[in-house]
Amino acid sequence: MSVPETIIFTRGVPATESFPTEDMAIAAQEAIRAHGDTILQYGSAFGFQPLREWLAKWHDADAENVLCSNGSLQIIEFICTLLLQTNSRTVFVEAPTYDRTITILRKYGAEIVSIPLQSDGPDMAALEAALRKHRPRFFYIIPDFQNPAGATCSGEKRRQLVALAREHGFLLLEDSPYRELRYRGEAQPCLRELAPEKVMQFSSFSKLIGPGPRLGYVIGPQNLLKEIAREAENNYITPGLLAHGSVYEFCRAGKLPAQIEKLKKLYAPRLEATLTALDEYLPESEPTRPDGGFFLSLTLPEGVTTMDVRARAAEVNLQLADGRGFFADGGGERFLRLPFCALTPQQLQVGVARLADVVRRTA
Ligand SMILES: Cc1ncc(COP(=O)(O)O)c(C=O)c1O
Repeated sequence: MSVPETIIFTRGVPATESFPTEDMAIAAQEAIRAHGDTILQYGSAFGFQPLREWLAKWHDADAENVLCSNGSLQIIEFICTLLLQTNSRTVFVEAPTYDRTITILRKYGAEIVSIPLQSDGPDMAALEAALRKHRPRFFYIIPDFQNPAGATCSGEKRRQLVALAREHGFLLLEDSPYRELRYRGEAQPCLRELAPEKVMQFSSFSKLIGPGPRLGYVIGPQNLLKEIAREAENNYITPGLLAHGSVYEFCRAGKLPAQIEKLKKLYAPRLEATLTALDEYLPESEPTRPDGGFFLSLTLPEGVTTMDVRARAAEVNLQLADGRGFFADGGGERFLRLPFCALTPQQLQVGVARLADVVRRTA
């Protein structure tokens, strides 16, 4: 008897078939030929200058306000080194939030306060109550197609967030690697556009081209970028300029818009397939219905924990993540994140059918 294929719902990785392999091969060659003297050498911690300029134009910012690094997660780590070296180490995050950021925050001794996330962004009453008790250094927030919940922050909450950041003097760390992957609806302004002096906005090519080049960047106030650059220099002798140059050539050749369209065409039906399968096999689950990104999430029925479901799921070749990892202050026992981009619609249907069966047997 053949063993059923393992369906992996644990990792938010891009689909392998989404990689623009041929165009990146051309871009890498072009980059080495045109910029070899610079990108085969050590370079500035701010990153490859033509890429900074290209990104600044794309994001309607100044090149001085852009720093390109080796992945966006590492920049968050640099910020923790800079901002959490004092006695005041309180930071706010959404609950749930990106588990790797929680790990980094803990590594730097942050005192993490969780603000519950609603379908349209952070619970503002809870945020205001937390601000009466704490003075955070920053609020780490993923406003677009949040990882892990799939929620997008409303325009009204974005404006309230920047008003609170100004009033209470904290920074907003806006992590936005999924922002370009909108499958329906209208984009809201990013927090940085609303308050450039109060926001460090991160993004990355990990979800647009691939995670391999490790190309992340931050747009923010120049004084902070200078400190981040110093911190980067203390960590690595040079950013990965070969990747910077290759991605620059890819973008300069005008390939990015078509690549983003390709991703949307590939991923939107995968989101739909997951929701259709949930409606059919697990109609009581009330999943989030994101307008883009990589993830949707749901709360398992009362009395059914993700831990129990995970153990049983593993027996039928279904891999699920432990929901508790996304909650910094406890909770998440019944939380389930479903990353849908790296599975085909058929695999998603099979995965959700298996999930429904396991949930029924666990209840
Ligand atoms: C919200 C969020 N931030 C950062 C990252 C990591 O990005 P990078 O590969 O640029 O370090 C991810 C990857 O899954 C993510 O979901």
